[in-house]
Amino acid sequence: MNIGVLKEQTGENRVAILPETVKKLLRPNLSVWVETGAGTNASACDSDYQDAGAEIKSRDEIVTGADIVLMVSKPENEILNKFTAKQTLIATFSALNDKEVVDLLKDKQLTAFSMELVPRITRAQSMDVLSSMATVAGYKAVLDAANHLPTFFPMFMTAAGTIRPAKVLILGAGVAGLQAIAIARKLGAQVEVFDVRSAVKEQVLSLGAKFVEVEGSKEDESAGGYAVEQTEEYKRKQQEAVEAHAEKANVIISTAQIPGKKAPLLIKKTVVEKMKKGSVIVDLAASSGGNCELSKNNEIIVHNGITIIGKSNYPSEMPFDASKMYGQNMLNFLNLLIDKEANFSLNFEDKIIKGTCLTHNGEIISERVKNFYNK
Ligand code: NAI
Repeated sequence: MNIGVLKEQTGENRVAILPETVKKLLRPNLSVWVETGAGTNASACDSDYQDAGAEIKSRDEIVTGADIVLMVSKPENEILNKFTAKQTLIATFSALNDKEVVDLLKDKQLTAFSMELVPRITRAQSMDVLSSMATVAGYKAVLDAANHLPTFFPMFMTAAGTIRPAKVLILGAGVAGLQAIAIARKLGAQVEVFDVRSAVKEQVLSLGAKFVEVEGSKEDESAGGYAVEQTEEYKRKQQEAVEAHAEKANVIISTAQIPGKKAPLLIKKTVVEKMKKGSVIVDLAASSGGNCELSKNNEIIVHNGITIIGKSNYPSEMPFDASKMYGQNMLNFLNLLIDKEANFSLNFEDKIIKGTCLTHNGEIISERVKNFYNK
């Protein structure tokens, strides 16, 4: 069996697996082929891959000869069109946001796994690329905010006077939000946090932040640790509360999401206009509509003296560790599909394999994707 690793499209610095993961993937009857230069932007050169036991190949050799192809994001349609039904593709296809790619994979009868579909169950935690990438995003969001802020994060008592610590407001304490709280606290900021799920209150407090409660949130335990849509009454109350806290904040990091839905609107234009000049908003949800009314996906704008950052690929800005985490998640997933002698089997009785399988034999396999497009 040959497992191929393709170079990502321009603008994506990550690579599906680093040389250290190649070593763990290799086994009898299995070779790893890596496209020339695939890891360059993630600080892994071709010779590092060769030292780890991989073979360096051209793009064409991998596209036509690999049994399984690994990527971070989908390749260009021109490349996808070259694959045949015998091959298996594993990448993050963003299946719920990209019907075109789902149709193409289905029409070509490809076996495709989409890593963002890995179910959020305990056994699959080690394969959860969304959590890995959200951890990177939460960390980078705080550093980016600190870089754009005209003031310090920590408190300083100097001969030139006392500097007050920055006030950071975090909206949404899921994976990215909790990481952002931890980093902002480490940098010495005072941190306040909103979330609709009361279950996160304890974690927020244990990180040294203040949890701001808005009464009456709707929670659903069957949502697997995710938030659900809130009532109009709650949304109104929450927006008022956010407004009161935003006026005092130097930084807002917003991470609120409801899977499969547009991001909840939490920071209206009128709220931005009441914030202190020089303040910074990092909207991690910019690609799904944004938590802030003014965010622009993949842009940094300044409105009324407030910087609003809508970057949607922070993991690509920290490509080595992001690829290390992604690759380890990928390896753990691959170990469900291939055994120690490199025999490949597709066991759809396994909830993780079935839940992550986007297409096979011309059909959508993931129930989540099927239901999403059939509703
Ligand atoms: P998550 O689902 O673990 O956390 C989201 C949190 O928001 C949950 O705790 C949820 O209860 C909370 N929430 C939902 N509605 C809310 C509301 N109305 N008010 C307050 N809290 C609310 O998601 P995760 O993995 O932490 O990702 C967060 C966001 O970051 C997502 O939008 C994701 O797409 C994005 N992301 C952005 C990246 C970037 O580079 N910009 C990279 C990775 C993720």
